[in-house]
Order: sequence, then C-alpha cells, then structure tokens
Amino acid sequence: MGCGKPELLIWVLSILYLAWFSSGFNPVDNYRIACGSSANASVGSLVFIADDLASNFLSTPQDILAKAPLKSISSSEYSSLYQTARVFTGSSKYTFSISQIGRHWIRLYFYPFVYNSYNMSEATFAVSTQDHVLLNDFSVKNSFVSKEFSLNVTSNNLVITFTPFNNSIAFLNAIEVVSLPDGLITDDATTVNPSGRFLGLLPVALETVWRVNMGGPKVTFDNDTLWRTWIPDHSFLLQQSSVVDYSNTAAVNYVQGGATVDIAPVSVYGTATGMNSSGNPDVNFNVTWEFNVDPGFQYLVRFHFCDIVSTSLNQLYFDVYIDSWIVVKDLDLSTYLVNVLAAAYYMDFVTVLAVSNKLHVSIGPSTLPGAYPNAILNGLEIMKMNNSMGSLSAAASVMIPSDSSSKKNVGVMVGIGIGAFIAVIFAVLLFLLCRRRRKLALQGHTKTWVPLSITGGNSHSVGSKYSNGTTISAVSNLGYRIPFLAVQEATNNFDESWVIGIGGFGKVYKGVLNEDTKVAVKRGNPRSQQGLAEFQTEIEMLSQFRHRHLVSLIGYCDEKNEMILIYEYMENGTLKSHLYGSGLPSMSWKQRLEICIGSARGLHYLHTGYAKAVIHRDVKSANILLDENLMAKVADFGLSKTGPEIDQTHVSTAVKGSFGYLDPEYFRRQQLTEKSDVYSFGVVLFEVLCARPVIDPSLPREMVNLAEWAMKWQKKGQLEQIIDSTLAGKIRPDSLRKFGETAEKCLADYGVDRPSMGDVLWNLEYALQLQEAVIDVEPEENSTNMIGELSPQVNNFGNDTPSVSATQFEAGPVDDLSGVSMSRVFSQLVKSEGR
Ligand SMILES: *[C@@H]1O[C@H](CO)[C@@H](O)[C@H](O)[C@H]1NC(C)=O
Ligand SMILES: *[C@@H]1O[C@H](CO)[C@@H](O)[C@H](O)[C@H]1NC(C)=O
Ligand SMILES: *[C@@H]1O[C@H](CO)[C@@H](O)[C@H](O)[C@H]1NC(C)=O
Ligand SMILES: *[C@@H]1O[C@H](CO)[C@@H](O)[C@H](O)[C@H]1NC(C)=O
Ligand SMILES: *[C@@H]1O[C@H](CO)[C@@H](O)[C@H](O)[C@H]1NC(C)=O
Ligand SMILES: *[C@@H]1O[C@H](CO)[C@@H](O)[C@H](O)[C@H]1NC(C)=O
Ligand SMILES: *[C@@H]1O[C@H](CO)[C@@H](O)[C@H](O)[C@H]1NC(C)=O
Ligand SMILES: *[C@@H]1O[C@H](CO)[C@@H](O)[C@H](O)[C@H]1NC(C)=O
Repeated sequence: MGCGKPELLIWVLSILYLAWFSSGFNPVDNYRIACGSSANASVGSLVFIADDLASNFLSTPQDILAKAPLKSISSSEYSSLYQTARVFTGSSKYTFSISQIGRHWIRLYFYPFVYNSYNMSEATFAVSTQDHVLLNDFSVKNSFVSKEFSLNVTSNNLVITFTPFNNSIAFLNAIEVVSLPDGLITDDATTVNPSGRFLGLLPVALETVWRVNMGGPKVTFDNDTLWRTWIPDHSFLLQQSSVVDYSNTAAVNYVQGGATVDIAPVSVYGTATGMNSSGNPDVNFNVTWEFNVDPGFQYLVRFHFCDIVSTSLNQLYFDVYIDSWIVVKDLDLSTYLVNVLAAAYYMDFVTVLAVSNKLHVSIGPSTLPGAYPNAILNGLEIMKMNNSMGSLSAAASVMIPSDSSSKKNVGVMVGIGIGAFIAVIFAVLLFLLCRRRRKLALQGHTKTWVPLSITGGNSHSVGSKYSNGTTISAVSNLGYRIPFLAVQEATNNFDESWVIGIGGFGKVYKGVLNEDTKVAVKRGNPRSQQGLAEFQTEIEMLSQFRHRHLVSLIGYCDEKNEMILIYEYMENGTLKSHLYGSGLPSMSWKQRLEICIGSARGLHYLHTGYAKAVIHRDVKSANILLDENLMAKVADFGLSKTGPEIDQTHVSTAVKGSFGYLDPEYFRRQQLTEKSDVYSFGVVLFEVLCARPVIDPSLPREMVNLAEWAMKWQKKGQLEQIIDSTLAGKIRPDSLRKFGETAEKCLADYGVDRPSMGDVLWNLEYALQLQEAVIDVEPEENSTNMIGELSPQVNNFGNDTPSVSATQFEAGPVDDLSGVSMSRVFSQLVKSEGR
C-alpha cells in the first residue's frame, strides 16, 4: 500500500520525461487556414486548409475572398500563402475550439495586395484575443510579414478578433493556431536589474520579436519540431569583423536537464558565433548584437548555449550581458550541469521595461585569471511580454473587444492618439504599483511556510531550467513531497541500525526508496522554530540549485510534524571521515585535489551560478560528501543565505557556522559575504593537507587551532613539515606550494583580500596540473627538467597578488627563460588542462 503512490509518481514522471524528450512534437490543437484560398495550400509538409473548409470558425460581416493578381512572388518558403487573402470590412472573429488548454502558437501571415477596390496596403486594424491585444494600429506596406505569438489559452475557445480602424479594412493571408509543449515557457526566469527571480511567466502573452541562429544559416520550419524560423545573426552584429563562426552539429548533446529539440533544434545549437581573438590571448572586447524593440515593454530574452568549440572541459569561461547589465559571470558551459561538452541548454532573462528602441546583447571574455578570451552564443530569442493592460501593442491599451463591446471600439479608437500617450504613463504607473505590491506580498509571505515557494525572491530558475526541464518542475511540488509511509518503509521504520550519521539537526538513516533507489534520510528532531527554518531553507535551496557538485534532494516529508529530507545516497560518506578518525584508507594527493576541486566548483556555482550569490555558511569537511567514485558534492544548505543585501534584513541572524571554520571577519563585523565561505574552504584545504581536526584541544596550545597552526608554517615556507605523514614525499613541491598559497589567501584576515571561489578553483586545478605533469613525464627519466623550466615563471605568478589575471601576468617582471611570453605559456597550460 505504502509504496503504491511513489511508484505511480515515478511512473508518471518517466512518462512525462519520455514525452518531453522524444522528438517530433504532436500538437493536440492544430489549425492552419489558407485564408481566401479555394484549395489547400502546402508549405513544406504543413497543410493549410482551404478557406471554405474553415468557414465554420469565422464570423464576418462579408465574405471577401481575395486573390492576388498573377505575379512572381519571391522565394519565401511561405509564398504559397501569399496568393490569397481574406478581407474584413468590419469586426470579424475566428473561434477555435481548444481541446488542450495551455500554451499555443498563434501565427498570422500578411502580404498586402490590391483586390477590386480593396487596397490592403492601406488597411489599418487591430487583432486581439479574449485576454490580449496582439496587434493594434497595425498596417503592412508591400512586404511579407508574419507575426508569431504564444499564449496560454485557458478556456475552451480561443476567439481571435480582427477589427478594422475607422473606415479602413483588415486582412489576413493565413493563420495558424497550434498547441505547444507545456514546458516551452516556464513560470520563472531571472530578472536583469535588479537581479532576482521573475515568477509569473505562465499567463503572459509573448510575441516573438527576434529569433536568431548564431553563426549559422537561416533555419526554416522544416528543421524545427515546432515549425519556427531562425534567421542568421550577422546583420545584427555591431562589429562584424570581431567574430568567427563555428559549426559542428554532430557534437550537439541533448542531456537530461538541458534543452530539448523542442527548445531549439540541432541546427541552432550546432552553430555559434564566437569572439575572433585571432589567437591573441590578450584581446578583450565584447561581441554585441543590436535589436530593434518597442519601448514600453519588458522582454523575455532566451539564450541558447552549446559549447561546440572547446576540445575539453573547462576551457571556455565568459560573461554575458543584456544592455549594460551583466547577467551571467564566468559562465562555464561544460560544468553548468553535467560534465559533458556540447550540452545544449538555455537561460531565460526578463528585462526591465525598455526605454530605448534598441536592445543589446553582448558576450565577452571572463576576467577569471587564466581564462582564454573567448565567448560564444548559439541562438537567441527575444520575446515581447504583454504589458499590464494585457496588450502587446503600445497603442492598444484601450480595447479588448468582448461580445458586447465590439460596437464601441470604433468610438474608442478615435481618441487613440492622446489615449496611447496617457496609457503608456498609466501602464508605467500601474507597473510600478504592481511591483511594489508584489514585493510587499512576497515579504509578507516569508513568515509562512509554503513548501517549495521562494520566500526571499532569491532563487534561480536553475531548478526548472537546467534540471528536469520544465515539465517535471511543473509537477515538482508533488514530486518532491514524499508520504511518511513511504519514508518509514524506506528506512525499515527508522531502524536504529540503519543510522549512518547524527548531527545537530537529527539522525541520518540510509534507506531504499522504490526498491532500488538508495537514499539518505535526514530526520529532524521534533519541531523547533529554528530547525523548521533550516528545513525550509534546505528544501528551497536544493530544489532550485542543481549541480553535479551539490548533493541533490530527492524529496521531503512534512506530514505529522515531521521534518524529513531525502537525498541521493553518497556511498563514501563525508570527506572528514576519509581524512582522520575513522580508520579509512588514506587518500592520494591527486584524489584529495580532485575532491577539493569538485567542492570548489560546487561552491563557485552557488556563488555565481545565479546573479545573486548564495552563501553556504557552513562549509566544512563534514559537509562535503563523496559518491562511489569519490566525486565531491557539497551538502547541508540549512544555513544558506543569499548575498549581503538580503542579509541586512535578517536582523536576528546570529553568527552561525562551525567552530574552527568560522570567518573571523564575519565574527567581528557580523557581515556575511561569499568570502566567508572562502575562508571556511581555506580551513578545509589545510584539513585535507594535514589530515587532522580543525580544533584539537588535546594538542599543545599553539597547535589547537589548525588554521593558525598551518598559517604559521605556511608563512615560514615550511608547510611540508606539518602535512599528513602518509603524503610525505608524494606531493610535488610546486603543487604543494600552489596549494599552500591558495589556502593562505583564503584565510586572509579581510574578505576583500581573499580570492573568489572561481580563483580558488582555478588555482586548485593548477595545483593538480603541477602534480599531474610530473606523473605524466615520470616514465621518462629526468622529469624535473621540463617542469623546471616552467616552474620559476609559474611561481612568479600569483606569489603575492591575491588574484591574478593573464594580463597582470605578462606585465609582471617575468623572467622569460624559454623565450615564450608568460601569457603564452599560460594559455598552453590552460589548453593542456583537459588532455
Ligand atoms: C485539405 O486538407 C484537409 C485536411 O487535411 C483534407 O481533409 C482535405 O481532403 C484536403 N482537401 C483537398 C482538396 O486536398
Ligand atoms: C497556463 O496558465 C495556467 C494559469 O496561470 C497555469 O496553471 C498553467 O500551468 C499554464 N500552462 C502553461 C503551459 O503555461
Ligand atoms: C495602395 O496603397 C499604397 C499605400 O498607400 C499605395 O502606395 C498604392 O499606390 C496603392 N495602390 C493602388 C492600386 O491604389
Ligand atoms: C478616423 O477617421 C477620421 C475621419 O475620417 C480621422 O480624422 C481620424 O484620424 C481617423 N482615426 C484613425 C485612428 O485613423
Ligand atoms: C579575425 O581577425 C583577424 C585579425 O584581426 C582577421 O585577419 C581575420 O580575418 C578575422 N577572422 C574572421 C573569420 O573574420
Ligand atoms: C534542414 O534539413 C535538411 C534535411 O531535412 C538538411 O539537408 C538541411 O541541411 C537542414 N538545414 C539546416 C540549416 O540545418
Ligand atoms: C562589455 O560590455 C559590458 C556591458 O556594456 C561592459 O560593462 C564591459 O566593460 C564590456 N567589456 C569590454 C571588454 O568592452
Ligand atoms: C500580462 O497578462 C497577464 C494576464 O493575461 C497578466 O497576469 C500579467 O500581469 C500581464 N503582464 C504584466 C506585465 O502586467
């Protein structure tokens, strides 16, 4: 009985999963009409039915079926639709019955010509649905125009009304109404300024303003499962000479948690526009595209990324901007999700209300030390969002025709000139008001416990965007919540012999869910206010942040006052247990470095993966868990907080964290920044190196505190004196030096002097490389020679600067022994990293 529900759930999830990942989307609602045409018209494999077959959808005062005078129409793939049109002399309605509520395309095709007395180039009209104005004061002069909207239709009928202005007419060549996959647009995105989370996209009507395939040709509807057209990007570039095109469609990897073919096809992910750094590691510029947009609206900007350029992981780091705002910093495409190259994925951002009629999108090199200057973009979509009047047209705030009001429209239209101006002001005011109210509402909410809601507006859309795509996130509220009975069963009714750990929060049991999923079950002590807060934080954090190096949450249970969290099972337990005190075999230096790198990557992602840093606050070796391959994952987010701004409001925040790891500056000033995590991580580094507890009261006084003790020896340059004895003689001196320096910088007294997690990560990778280089060459005799040439230069770099960039490097007093510039050596090192 007890396991019936979860099984069903898994089954449903896998069906959803299959449906989502199988290609060839099959729309439930599927209307295509060739208006004015007496025969079906085909566009590739799509059939637009003859107008008379669609007459029951339409109510119009007069049937005017127009045929274009014979002429050669250009080679547009849609040209068969432009031969005929419907002319509307009065308000006319298409009514489509909708079998599946949810998001639908509405595509309208226009090509004006003259038919009898009707000159369609002079037509001015509006198009609206029950809820939204799609076009207003709209006219088309002498060109093909197609408009694409996506609307979440929530009633059984979709009514599309064409209303001619004044004494004008309206016309239409073809119309499509087609269901879309549910997950195409999710509810959330990241806001650009201030950076935060945007919620509420589901009901928003969108107009596709630009849909661009970077670095490749036009992609037509035939090559897109949702019949979209993607146009080439070069005409939007501000500086065409600054880019190179890449193409490798064979490489594109649709991984679970990333994009799907329905999000964008291979022909989009498989091409990219990148920086033309012409082999020069010192170049520093942005690649910028400029798009015309309507001011007065917000836009949903969707970036499509796929690293088809790198030859190994962690080669490419870059920054992404919308207008002058940085939206992603140090983006590392290869590790965002899973360590695979060329994983297709996308990110959604909501802009501020546009004040200009240009929107700029830029990519540029990362400032991370050692990052080779390159940046790529594979595809981009810019979608206009309806304003607070539900309209997608600035002029339109006045009319949403309903059955009763369609007569009034004509009158209303007269005032539209002045009306529009007032409406824009009104819209802005209303927008500001709404935002304020929403903010207040959000603040109010933080007091009550709503499972999986955001309580601080602090989370990233990563959860839905990069994890299971949107389909699963839509059911995630159910998916995460696990019945108490199932938990009882999984843990053999909380069998004491299944306990694998005991912490401040309560006991941790191992368990088996659904017969074969090994899980770790953390059961909180009976509810205390504080425990509850941490329970909630942990669920929120883990359900929104998904990363290879963060432990993942499988579910939770809050039935019967329980506070139970269920995680993926980490076979090898805590890092701490492998270092000392449990008799486990000692790990090699390489293993330890890899564990440090993995956890640094997890923390780096927490700090930067989302525009507002998330601070872990309890970084320690007992919170770094190891899976069956000794891959590290950061765990225990109960104390996590978002960046400094948020924390100021938490007046009650007492200093929290674990003794021995605690940032002294945080202790002194109670000011929390991500540099506090860096400090704690520095302590972990020394712990890994020395394999002893961070506080050991049984030792002589000067040795009690590991951080102090290790810093003393590091400053003397004799760190090797205190390292784990099982490592003695096995660490390459350069590697140890790099490692010691990195840990030392992490422990700087002042946060500002500490490196970022990104720098730490890079330096650890470098330490690993210095260790590996030896091993690689060891079989040949006299390995130190080759390294010897590199190391004096290498050691110059970063000796006392807290963070080092490639340019600093070159400008520095470099003793150029081998005649190669430092930055060259550097970029070679970076390149060789993945070999
Ligand atoms: C037009 O298409 C419809 C729907 O696909 C089909 O039922 C009808 O037979 C077609 N008519 C002609 C003349 O091909
Ligand atoms: C459509 O909107 C409704 C109500 O806002 C929402 O529950 C539903 O998930 C939305 N569907 C899609 C596919 O956006
Ligand atoms: C139709 O209207 C357009 C735009 O006003 C005009 O340029 C064109 O000459 C008109 N054509 C005819 C046949 O009146
Ligand atoms: C409607 O027609 C009147 C007179 O024909 C004209 O003055 C007015 O500008 C027109 N309004 C619009 C919105 O075209
Ligand atoms: C890249 O830039 C170099 C020099 O700046 C130029 O010679 C080369 O043609 C450019 N490459 C492309 C593909 O534009
Ligand atoms: C579109 O698909 C056809 C085959 O279906 C293929 O030959 C063509 O190269 C594709 N075009 C693009 C731009 O990928
Ligand atoms: C790239 O653009 C951003 C935003 O406009 C700007 O802050 C940054 O300085 C630019 N970088 C370069 C190298 O021009
Ligand atoms: C867009 O329209 C939806 C309802 O159709 C509404 O909920 C939403 O608030 C509107 N957008 C804005 C920015 O007001």
